[in-house]
Amino acid sequence: MRIHRYEKLWLIASLVLIVLFITTVTYGAVGLGIQLVDDREDPIAPADIADDERFGDPRVEQVGEDEYEVYVVAGQFFFDPGTFEPIEIPTNSEVTFYVTSQDVIHSFTVAGTNVNTMVVPGEVAALTVEFDEPGEHGIICNEFCGDGHHDMEAELVVVAEEEFE
Ligand code: CUA
Repeated sequence: MRIHRYEKLWLIASLVLIVLFITTVTYGAVGLGIQLVDDREDPIAPADIADDERFGDPRVEQVGEDEYEVYVVAGQFFFDPGTFEPIEIPTNSEVTFYVTSQDVIHSFTVAGTNVNTMVVPGEVAALTVEFDEPGEHGIICNEFCGDGHHDMEAELVVVAEEEFE
């Protein structure tokens, strides 16, 4: 079979493109270590938050040598912990945030990290991130949630490991 030279070039070019597309999609999905929010966490009714063992006492909890869990309740218009006092985390730690809402849909977005999730009442958003460098990160709400939405913010402070109590 004879294939015209230009047709051959087009065939090769489109094959190269297809391989390139598959490569970028695969890299984006697994190569960057980005985790999607899933639904592995048990749901929680907003009315039960106060009595829940995870969220009744919102806090930072050390669960391993360099592993922490942070239970955050979002509400109009605050994050607890975070808004009234900063969330403190040591450097070189792996932190999993569990966030739920006590009223309407909010978001939990930690500036300078991959943490950016919707916070839906009744659901628990879980996201894991590593903090290696000391510094301050603003936490903001990206979902319009009422007339105080623009004031809904909090702070996360990553302190040097040796200064962390
Ligand atoms: Cu909460 Cu916007």
